[in-house]
This record gives sequence, C-alpha cells and structure tokens, in this order.
Amino acid sequence: MKALILVGGFGTRLRPLTLTLPKPLVEFANKPMIEHQVAALAAAGVTNIVLAVNYRPEIMTAALQKYEQQYNVKIDFSVETEPLGTAGPLKLAEKILGKDDSPFFVLNSDVICDYPFKQLADFHKAHGDEGTIIVTKVEEPSKYGVVVHKPNHPSRIDRFVEKPIEFVGNRINAGIYILNPSVLSRIELRPTSIEQETFPAMTKDGQLHSFDLEGFWMDVGQPKDFLSGTCLYLSSLTKKGSKELTSTSESYVHGGNVMIDPSAKIGNNCKIGPNVVIGPNCVIGDGVRLQRCVLLSNSKVKEHAWIKSTIVGWNSVVGRWARLENICVLGDDVTVGDEIYVNGGSVLPHKSIKANVDTPSIIM
Ligand code: GDD
Ligand code: MG
Repeated sequence: MKALILVGGFGTRLRPLTLTLPKPLVEFANKPMIEHQVAALAAAGVTNIVLAVNYRPEIMTAALQKYEQQYNVKIDFSVETEPLGTAGPLKLAEKILGKDDSPFFVLNSDVICDYPFKQLADFHKAHGDEGTIIVTKVEEPSKYGVVVHKPNHPSRIDRFVEKPIEFVGNRINAGIYILNPSVLSRIELRPTSIEQETFPAMTKDGQLHSFDLEGFWMDVGQPKDFLSGTCLYLSSLTKKGSKELTSTSESYVHGGNVMIDPSAKIGNNCKIGPNVVIGPNCVIGDGVRLQRCVLLSNSKVKEHAWIKSTIVGWNSVVGRWARLENICVLGDDVTVGDEIYVNGGSVLPHKSIKANVDTPSIIM
C-alpha cells in the first residue's frame, strides 16, 4: 500500500519550536511527530511513503533516510518549488500514487491518534466510492474542516465546510484520508486545497464518506494543543499498560502519565507528573516540581524550579526557584534566570530572561 504525508507549511503556529526544526520533526512524546506516522503506516502494511515537502527539504531528507531501514519502507520525497497547498502535492506525486489501481492514504503531518489504517482501508473498500476521511467529534469545530452527512445515510458526506464561521456540526476532518487514484484526475497541478476544492467536488458527486475515529485525537500544531495532545497520548499509553512510560513505583513519579528518556538524570526529592515528557539527556535538579509539561532533549531544570503547562525547548536552562506556567514555550537554547516567573508566552531561541514576565508575551 501507498501513502502521502503532507509535511509542508511553515508551522508558524508552533513557533518558536519551528524556528529550529520543521514541525514534523519536533518531538512529540520523545519521537519526531512524523515518526509516529511512519511507524503506524508501516505496521499497517504500507511499503511506499511519499513525503510532500516544500520547506527545508534537506533537513527532512537526512532525518527520514534512517526510517527507511528502521521501518522497512520506501520513502520518496516530493519537493514543491512553490507551496502547492493540501491537494496540489497529490498531483505532483501522481506517478507514485497513481502507479496502480490501489487506494492510497493521505495524512496531515500534525495529527496524533491511534491511527486505524487497516479498519479505514476495509471500510473504504466496502463502500466502493472514491474517498473516505476519518472524522472525530470536537467541542470547537470552527478551527477545523466540518462534515455534514446526507440525511438517512450513516457515512456519505453531503457537505464539507473548511473552518466554518457559523456552526454547521461538530464532526470534523481528522486530517487522515484514503483515496482512490481516480481522485488525482480531479486535482490540477497548482496551489490548491483539498479541503476547499477537492472535497466539496467529491461530496457533490456523492463520492466522499466518513469513518468515525475511536479514542483520542489531536492536531498538535499549536502549543496549547501540543500539550493537550501529549496528555491524551500519555493517558492512552497508561490504558494500554505501555512499557514506554516510567513506572509509577519510582518515588518521584506523581499521578502517572510520565515518560522519561532513560538517559535523563533526575535529582533527589523531585515530584514529576502527571502528564510529563522528559527528553534525552535532560538534567533535573533536586526538588524540582514538573506537571503537564514537555522538556525537549538536553534541557536542564535547576533545583526547586516549578514548571506547569510549558514546553521547554532543546538545550534550554531553567534557573533555581524559577516558576513557569500558563502555556510557556521556550525555544532552543533559552535561559531563564534564577527565581524568575514566566506567566505564559513564547521565548525565541538563544534568549536569556532576566526579569519576570507577568503577562503572556513573545520575548524576542
Ligand atoms: N506539502 C505541503 N505543501 N504541505 C502543506 C502545505 C503545502 O503547501 N500547506 C500545508 N501543508 C500541510 C501541513 O504541514 C499539514 O500537515 C497539513 O498540510 C494541514 O495543514 P495545517 O496548516 O496543519 O492545516 P489546519 O490544521 O489548519 O487544518 C487542516 O487540518 C485539520 C485537522 O487537524 C485541515 O485539513 C482541516 O480540514 C482539518 O480539520
Ligand atoms: Mg494542523
């Protein structure tokens, strides 16, 4: 089977992390986001993956070459000279996606869930129409593409409305599709949106179906959702009894849902959890309190710091007795001084914070 992952766009909503790495390479639960998807596709029997890239392709190529061997898949890069949106890249990769009659998967690179690729493929085959999209229910549908169903039909989509201004429903496009190669003839090679152009045309012809997702889902393309998605993902690992989580019998683990890379060093009398990810080579000083936060690799948290609802970027240092909360995102190599309070906001790479930040702000 074949798949295409949309890995373009500038990831502006996940700045300052995306000033350092393209969004798909930012680690989610200690693995680049895209690795979660490549692993799940390979496990479902996909052997050919196209990465549709338009931004810093060289970084992506280097990172992904190792997955070819690790997951036993062929990864082809399809590089756009101008951003082709969410449909144009499918046309650009027509040679691969259309090489035979079998359907192919399409994924947005920033969505996290228990990817049900096998069930999706079976469902798609059973109805026999051109496309199926995974849908999930959310409370705030206006940020997403919303689907409205045909009356009296459980899965055929009547209307697809991208980012609706008025409420039309709460079942949204989860950013994971399976499409027949015939869909490629609906797309022109130009910047074009699958959500604004292709899906509406397919629904008009009664060719687009929905498949309901079970379990958690999150678009982790912005800091608040990245943290919520982390909590959901860790909870699902807890439910499965996953060995990737740090044992709750460790004295410092509090409330579970804690994932600590084995190379990280944890000081004495720390209280960590619930919902914490600590990346490779992080160093946590004595008496540190961490909850609902992500520390990316090589970051250092000094003694008695208190961190909540925060993403600490790679190589950053948080000072003694510092307090970070309310969705703070530190970029790469940021230093927060001792006893400093940061109440939300983003700090650009290589900055030092020497005074309190009382209201959420962007520090550049
Ligand atoms: N190759 C390529 N080229 N990829 C692109 C481009 C481009 O020009 N523009 C965006 N992408 C990729 C992004 O990297 C991402 O993986 C995907 O297309 C969707 O773009 P986002 O910017 O993340 O869109 P969104 O989150 O606002 O909305 C989309 O996702 C929602 C689910 O999370 C839409 O598909 C919505 O309908 C959907 O509900
Ligand atoms: Mg997104």
